[in-house]
Amino acid sequence: MKKLIAANWKMNFTLSEAREFVLQLLQKSQEHTEILEKAEFLICAPYVFLSALSEYSKQGVVSFGGQNCSVHDKGAYTGEISAGMLKDVGCSHVIVGHSERREYHKEDNILVNEKAKAVHQNGLSAIICVGESRKEREANLQEEVIERQLFESVPKNAIPENTIIAYEPVWAIGTGKTPSPEDAGQMHSFIRAFLTKNYSQGEKMRILYGGSMNSGNAEKLLTTPNIDGGLIGTASLKFEEFFGVAQCA
Ligand code: PGA
Repeated sequence: MKKLIAANWKMNFTLSEAREFVLQLLQKSQEHTEILEKAEFLICAPYVFLSALSEYSKQGVVSFGGQNCSVHDKGAYTGEISAGMLKDVGCSHVIVGHSERREYHKEDNILVNEKAKAVHQNGLSAIICVGESRKEREANLQEEVIERQLFESVPKNAIPENTIIAYEPVWAIGTGKTPSPEDAGQMHSFIRAFLTKNYSQGEKMRILYGGSMNSGNAEKLLTTPNIDGGLIGTASLKFEEFFGVAQCA
């Protein structure tokens, strides 16, 4: 399975900066075609850039995704964007349940599950995020917390074609701290065991690691069993850093 190197740009960049990043990615990938044998690129960009950027997916190097979506298909939901709209502008993926959505927008597992279903119904792939807080890690509750998040957030009929799990310890996001590759590996095997037990083809579902991944720590993380790629925030805002992560794959 190729590693999925996914950027989560969050609320950053102008459209011209975004275009420039993508053009650089296309050019560099042409110079290093060996990378595309091992890695696939995905960029989860702010909604307003997606229609313009998805034109670049035609070359087969990079796909595009949203960072959130509504549970509804259409209607009187001012300010919301549906999964169908994301599909219509060329997206293939949607992140749901990112810890920043869970924290700042009070999204809970049940809502995340409904969003993932909306993504599935529109034929897209949901990247469902889970992760424990610092307090929970300190109390050694990470497995319990993740198990509950998975159980409640991942729709029962999820399959590898429409679902990717992103394990993102909240204390590692944007902090420069990461779990050791051993600790990350332990959580990824725990998630793998849960998926294998509870989902058909759970053994094939991709599990990404997210939380301060960069070109310096990616090699160790990406060679750890059951880490099938990365969801990259801060390091996805500098092209060289982001491409450096892919080179580690
Ligand atoms: P980070 O963000 O790489 O800046 O830690 C990852 C994420 O929030 O998905």
